[in-house]
Amino acid sequence: MSDKKASNQMWGGRFASGPAAIMEAINASISFDRKLYAQDIRGSIAHSEMLAETGIISAGDQHKIAHGLNTILKEIESGKFEFSTRLEDIHMNVEARLAELIGPAAGRLHTARSRNDQVAVDFRLWVKDEFHRVAEALKGLIAAFLERAEEHAATVMPGFTHLQTAQPVTFGHHCMAYVEMFARDLSRVRDAIQRMDESPLGAAALAGTGFPIDRHRTAKALGFREPTRNSLDSVSDRDYALEFLSVASISATHLSRLAEEIVIWSTPQFGFVRLSDGFSTGSSIMPQKKNPDAAELVRAKTGRVNGHLIGLLTVMKGLPLTYSKDMQEDKEAVFDAAETLDLMLAAMTGMVTDMTVNAVAMKKAAGSGYSTATDLADWLVRTLGLPFREAHHVTGRAVALAESKKLGLEKLSLEDLRSIHAGISDDIFSVLSVQNSVKSRTSFGGTAPSEVRKQIRYWKKRLAKA
Ligand code: ARG
Repeated sequence: MSDKKASNQMWGGRFASGPAAIMEAINASISFDRKLYAQDIRGSIAHSEMLAETGIISAGDQHKIAHGLNTILKEIESGKFEFSTRLEDIHMNVEARLAELIGPAAGRLHTARSRNDQVAVDFRLWVKDEFHRVAEALKGLIAAFLERAEEHAATVMPGFTHLQTAQPVTFGHHCMAYVEMFARDLSRVRDAIQRMDESPLGAAALAGTGFPIDRHRTAKALGFREPTRNSLDSVSDRDYALEFLSVASISATHLSRLAEEIVIWSTPQFGFVRLSDGFSTGSSIMPQKKNPDAAELVRAKTGRVNGHLIGLLTVMKGLPLTYSKDMQEDKEAVFDAAETLDLMLAAMTGMVTDMTVNAVAMKKAAGSGYSTATDLADWLVRTLGLPFREAHHVTGRAVALAESKKLGLEKLSLEDLRSIHAGISDDIFSVLSVQNSVKSRTSFGGTAPSEVRKQIRYWKKRLAKA
């Protein structure tokens, strides 16, 4: 007796009832995989219909099964269903309830199927639906950016490299940079859906089955393009989940960079944007403050999404084919990443739509930091035929002079400029304003308002079909 007690104290911990309770706690997934109830029931109905059609089970049993499963669906959706940890997972919870409801016919549902292909098909259905949700959310965010870009196609702001003022750009152009990023995320989602659009149902435990099943029929019934082509792969890979997490991580990383910019832009020092009250918080002690909490949390939650990717990659990396229970750990990672990404996309769309853009502050900053120095150098090349390297040198001296006089480049006198290079004429002042600087950058994909408007038109047309 004392031996048993000692060992329980060693590894029993809070599991007072001993090994069985610990086993149940580590083994059960119902606390999280109940999220798959609708997919599980859908999969089972499709499977039962196919079993009846191929003569593997009777039409009478199939009716009972389908009726019972629909009853369970209603029970779960109305909160009446009692989930049990003892029954481990969603698959066994549903099947046990089906037996209670319809008796022995329930036992025929699992013919030519295993929980291995069952969970694979349920999870694929869920991930595919989530991919579609993410696609819609991305489209919403892109639409919000297109609107801001249109409004601000000619609003000048500083463009940065190293977070140092580099050259003037337009806010519309900056918005369109995010349109490009999120549109690529969207295309990654579409690609991933294409790849994962195959039904693993009918792979059974791992080797397929001797029953005359029709996998093409179940694939079609469940909205998949076709069945998977290798039973071992069907139950053992989770690359569609990994792909979801990597697409989510890339998109979250884009969102995080945007969040970081919003945090910077909304400081009083920058003052480029003002977040709406709905997307900021006050300080409990400093009344003047308006904090960009939502942006900060978008930035922070990226860590969580990225972490799930590394987590699941690590779970999968050492697994021999085919199924191992390790793979049960795939779900929480994907569920949490999905919920997090959905929230991040919604918050960012709200922030972008609602924020007030301070064009005056942007323009003022755009003109500081000698942002039109490159325009001066380009003018020397274009008008005087100087080699660019020499023009760069001359411009450097002009910047140094302006700096010593504490003036902007455009405020230097013609005399001052001529003292640096005798060929400079009055005409130079036309390129030293930020407005003219951006206007001149008409190269394809450049920041000129005319070019930005062209890209807006392109994306509007393209997204209508995306
Ligand atoms: N709950 C399990 C999972 O999520 C279902 C598959 C169980 N299969 C098995 N052979 N034990 O992975």
